[in-house]
Amino acid sequence: MKKLRKAVFPVAGLGTRFLPATKAVPKEMLTVVDRPVIQYVVDEAREAGIEHFIFVTGRNKGVIEDHFDIQFELNETLKDRGKTEQLDLLDGMQPAAGTTSFTRQQEPLGLGHAVWCARDLVGDEPFALLLPDMIMQAEPGCMAQMAELYRETGGNVIGVQECDPAEAHKYGIVGRGEEKGAGFRITGMVEKPPKGTAPSNLYINGRYILQPTIFDILETQERGAGNEIQLTDGMLKLEKEEPFWGFHFTGEVYDCGSPEGFVEANVAIAMRKKELKARVVETVERLR
Ligand code: G1P
Repeated sequence: MKKLRKAVFPVAGLGTRFLPATKAVPKEMLTVVDRPVIQYVVDEAREAGIEHFIFVTGRNKGVIEDHFDIQFELNETLKDRGKTEQLDLLDGMQPAAGTTSFTRQQEPLGLGHAVWCARDLVGDEPFALLLPDMIMQAEPGCMAQMAELYRETGGNVIGVQECDPAEAHKYGIVGRGEEKGAGFRITGMVEKPPKGTAPSNLYINGRYILQPTIFDILETQERGAGNEIQLTDGMLKLEKEEPFWGFHFTGEVYDCGSPEGFVEANVAIAMRKKELKARVVETVERLR
């Protein structure tokens, strides 16, 4: 079994659910408490042992590349002023030289197409895929737990969670088969099923470990739900040839692509910080 070394972050999305905030600032760069959303997602991948970080970007997303680069002027100024704590913080987050790659999805044709754009950078090895809207909170993190399951099962692994059945039409939904350790065999999947037709209430939560065979399938994948090239449709084809395992994630998840999820993430993450918790509780109490 090939080691899981690379992760793909499809960050080309327009962020239309979050206008006007995302008119000039990429949604992945919106700040949750003290760092941009994308930093949480990259840290989750790093915790899972990922060594190379591949970003599928688009126009107006250049600032993401800057965020993961060294800012020399800033570092020098911090050094001059003796701000070692801030320097250490930046150092600790800095991907090593040569461990990030950026490519562009030139047209907004859907998640399946965005993933396919990373094919040359991934090459012939398994890869993690992390949708950047979702901040997951758990110890160990969601991707670290999935990587552990992957070491037992091989094949492909998809993170799933339960949703309100009335919300199932908003997501990719999987069918649940035989249990294996922390996972279960996936028996079919459907992207955004029409209301009342979902095979279960287990939705795909935006974390995947996939084999590179998916790229050949995505190359010719026709458009599906929303007239977009859907990753779920490609995975459904691959499932005929290779096993897919579901990992039932039980931690917290915040969809930061929408104002509601973003506000919730800010409150939840601030509450985890000793220095902010009392202040947040006091503010909410005072205003409610
Ligand atoms: C995408 C995936 C879907 C998944 C969802 C999780 O949909 O296509 O299967 O359930 O992310 O957020 P999107 O949110 O891009 O419509």
